[in-house]
Amino acid sequence: MTWIDLGDPLPRSSPKRYEPIEWETGEICLLPVCSDATSLPFNDVLDARVSHRQFGVVDDKQLGAFLWHACRTRGVGPSDLGFDLEHRAAPSAGAIHPIHVVLKRPGDIRWWLYQAKAHNLVELKQATGKLKGLYEHSRQVLEGDGAIRILFLAEPRKTLGKYQDGCSLIWRDAGALLAVMALTATAQGLSFCPLGITGDPWVSALADQGKLAGVGLALLGAAAGA
Ligand SMILES: Cc1cc2nc3c(=O)[nH]c(=O)nc-3n(C[C@H](O)[C@H](O)[C@H](O)COP(=O)(O)O)c2cc1C
Repeated sequence: MTWIDLGDPLPRSSPKRYEPIEWETGEICLLPVCSDATSLPFNDVLDARVSHRQFGVVDDKQLGAFLWHACRTRGVGPSDLGFDLEHRAAPSAGAIHPIHVVLKRPGDIRWWLYQAKAHNLVELKQATGKLKGLYEHSRQVLEGDGAIRILFLAEPRKTLGKYQDGCSLIWRDAGALLAVMALTATAQGLSFCPLGITGDPWVSALADQGKLAGVGLALLGAAAGA
């Protein structure tokens, strides 16, 4: 068995500026703004979290609330990295948030990018054809007909502009985000299950070599029988 050493991250003495990817986008889907607190006390959420593998269909209000709590940008700050630093519910090395949340709803062949600052979804035009194989692959892992498929799509050079040997930071960011999502889903009474597949090679084929990497998937749905 081989343990792949991803190195020990070290902040660069002078950061490398990086221009984030410009996506080819289509339709925009506005999401409801959600200000209501979820009703369960936090200790009950921690005690109740469990992976569910049966999924009913989630409506846009539930999806909007999920993304609002787990993923939206709550504040921004300037940086010399070529993009803003951000505060979200999940911690991220350097406040960089290199992982995009991209999702596919049941009955829709399109994949949508969650824009965390604007709290909306935008259609990713190049993804519909290029992520078809990933959809089929993920269904072999967990069918989840009613589920929303959530893809963790990393733009590693955001983090690597600040940190030398920073690849492990991206994976740790993915774990932090996964945990926040799992707890948010529990607080909302939704079903959530991480998938062990990364999303590659389909994700990396969306852009030039090395620009994008798949760092996981998860399924989200309504509680079975709800
Ligand atoms: C990184 C990661 C990958 C996982 N991959 C899968 C998977 O591919 N299929 C699946 O059914 N569950 C998957 N799970 C869920 C685990 O099987 C589950 O967390 C574990 O059985 C413990 O159960 P619990 O989450 O209900 O506590 C994954 C969990 C994590 C954290």
